[in-house]
Parts: sequence; C-alpha cells; structure tokens
Amino acid sequence: MRPKELSRYLADLGWRDPLALPAERSIAASASVKKPIFESVDLETLAESLRDCARCRLSEGRKTVVFGEGAPDARVMFIGEGPGAEEDRTGRPFVGQAGHLLDRMVVAMGLKRVQTYIANVVKCRPPGNRDPKDDEIAACSVFLDRQIELIRPAVIVALGRFAANRLTGTDKPLGALRGRWSHYKGVPLLATYHPAYLLRTPADKRKVWADLKLVMAKLAE
Ligand code: URA
Repeated sequence: MRPKELSRYLADLGWRDPLALPAERSIAASASVKKPIFESVDLETLAESLRDCARCRLSEGRKTVVFGEGAPDARVMFIGEGPGAEEDRTGRPFVGQAGHLLDRMVVAMGLKRVQTYIANVVKCRPPGNRDPKDDEIAACSVFLDRQIELIRPAVIVALGRFAANRLTGTDKPLGALRGRWSHYKGVPLLATYHPAYLLRTPADKRKVWADLKLVMAKLAE
C-alpha cells in the first residue's frame, strides 16, 4: 500500500481529526483497522505516512515526526518515551543527552547503535517535555506495533515507565517491572530505567547494567 492510499484509508476512518473523537473511539478504530491496512505496509511507507500526521494534539507543537531509526533487521529494539527538543529538531530518536548515554549503553553491550533499532511510544515531542497522555500514546500505538512487527527483533528493551507500561499493558511502577522478562507480540521484552532518569540518578546505573546483561545473555542464546 502506498503512503497516499494509507493516508486516504485513515482519513476515511476519521483519523485526520482525532481530537474530535473521544479517546476510546480512536483506540477502537485503531484496533479494528489494524489488520486490513497494515499487513502490506513496510517501514518506509509507514514513516512516510506519518510525516504530516495530525492524529493527536502533539502534532500542533512538533517540528518533526521522529519515526525511529536503525537496522531493519536489528536484534535489539529500544523503545523510549517520546522525542525531546533535540530529537524534534533533527527528526532522530535519542540524540540529546539521554541519547548519548544510550549510545554508551549500546557500546557497553558490545554493539553499535546502527545495529539496533530505536523508537518511541509517541513520535512527536510533548510540549515542554511533559509526559505523554494516554490518548496520545493510543494514537501512535498501531504505528509502533507495525514497526515491531516489521523489525521482529530478538529482544525489546523498554526504556522507562511509559514504554514499560505501554508494552506490558500494566500501570505498575518501573521498579516492579524492570529486570524481569515478559513478552510483547511474542518478542522477549525487558524493561529498564530510562537514560534520562539515569542522568539524574547515576546510582541506578548498576541496575541498568544488570538488566542489559540479561539482554546480552538472551541475545547469545
Ligand atoms: N527520550 C526519549 O524517550 N526518546 C527520545 O527519543 C529522546 C529522549
């Protein structure tokens, strides 16, 4: 399916103005349209279809949609919360201070950033870096799901509470979720602290390193 066809399909479903829809209807719409429209959509088409996305209020303040980047056949997929100022400016995920720390974490795992895939639960910057809201996460959810289906990583690492809650389908605190394996769409999923949190709380770096060692062991299986 071409980007234009996809946009038309979504427009027909009322996705152009989701703020006019109650959040529940957006979520129901995303669940019901997912199969027919997304089965034939590849990463490039998906990214293209989001370029002018206005499916939630985050589109009003963003400069750039930060779709995600990395190797299409990555074995590790990192999923963070949402773009910050630097990401919004450049259109690339995790390129600010938290991103530099993520880069170091990736290197410590014996990998290069380009061997991984990096995405976020919301693809547009929340104003003032506020937390993303439930309906904003829901508006992006089919797109993240399709990214995961296309990359089919061996492991997903959820960075921080928003990614962990979104992917585990719980609202448990990160302390209760991190360091334990679960699955998302059949892919082993491990949650750990967000690099931005680590910049504020460096003492927890050792917990993240313990989590990343679990990921490395899983990749070596
Ligand atoms: N924090 C995130 O969660 N994602 C980014 O892309 C950058 C910072």
